[in-house]
Amino acid sequence: MDRKKVTISELMQKKEKGQKITMMTAYDYPTASLVDQAGIDTILVGDSLGMVVLGYDSTVPVTMDEMIHHCKAVSRGTKSSFVIGDMPFMSYHVSVEQAITNAGRFVKEAACDSVKLEGGTDMAPVIKAIVKAGIPVCAHIGLTPQTATMFSGFKVQGKDAESAKALIQSARDLEAAGAFMIVMECIPDILAARITKELTIPTIGIGAGKDCDGQVLVYHDLVGLFERFTPKFVKQYINLSPKIKEALIQYRTEVEDGTFPGPGHTFAMKKEEAEKI
Ligand code: KIV
Repeated sequence: MDRKKVTISELMQKKEKGQKITMMTAYDYPTASLVDQAGIDTILVGDSLGMVVLGYDSTVPVTMDEMIHHCKAVSRGTKSSFVIGDMPFMSYHVSVEQAITNAGRFVKEAACDSVKLEGGTDMAPVIKAIVKAGIPVCAHIGLTPQTATMFSGFKVQGKDAESAKALIQSARDLEAAGAFMIVMECIPDILAARITKELTIPTIGIGAGKDCDGQVLVYHDLVGLFERFTPKFVKQYINLSPKIKEALIQYRTEVEDGTFPGPGHTFAMKKEEAEKI
């Protein structure tokens, strides 16, 4: 049975009813199709694609054109999951006008349902302007990989009372600015629970404990396709890399020893036609 497109009000209702919201990253057509068929509520085309798909060392070099290219493929592979396009570093920092223009590209060119951007209270005016233009925005606080250098690397955020209070204030300000959802990355579980309880919009955790309204993981971490490193908060549900390598080695061996292609993989020609060649 065909499921209908997930809506923001359904996501809000899930929070109200205490039902968990699911989010998974995807960066291409086949993965989006699998995530969609698995009944996951929301697909995030994360700028994590810079690392897990494009081979960059961080998310910083990812461009708008790269994001749009991948978002288009994901949208084509998605029927019902709600698609969120991640705004890359420097696509929403220079001016509010530029932020609106770039957010618009995700919706107009790549058929995304919404955009996500990183940052706390400082980003509230940008979110307000994009929402005013009619584009739903998901906020992202805590560990914000695009600006991790400013915080001396990839570290858990909000561990002391002062920084925890600042994150609570950011969450309040982003909700007030009109964000429909907020991703919280790498913050203590008690703090995530506190923010989740206070906000009316859903919170999605990644390394933020079980009391968020929903959870997100990077697809390549979940299926074991990213071998460079695995953060502590990841649960790997299947380890595909060794299985894929095994299949590739078997293919290479069979081509080299002539076992592939076998009779079942070739096309026959009538003998009399073959004799005329
Ligand atoms: O880019 C991304 O995949 C993300 C998630 C880790 C939340 O921002």
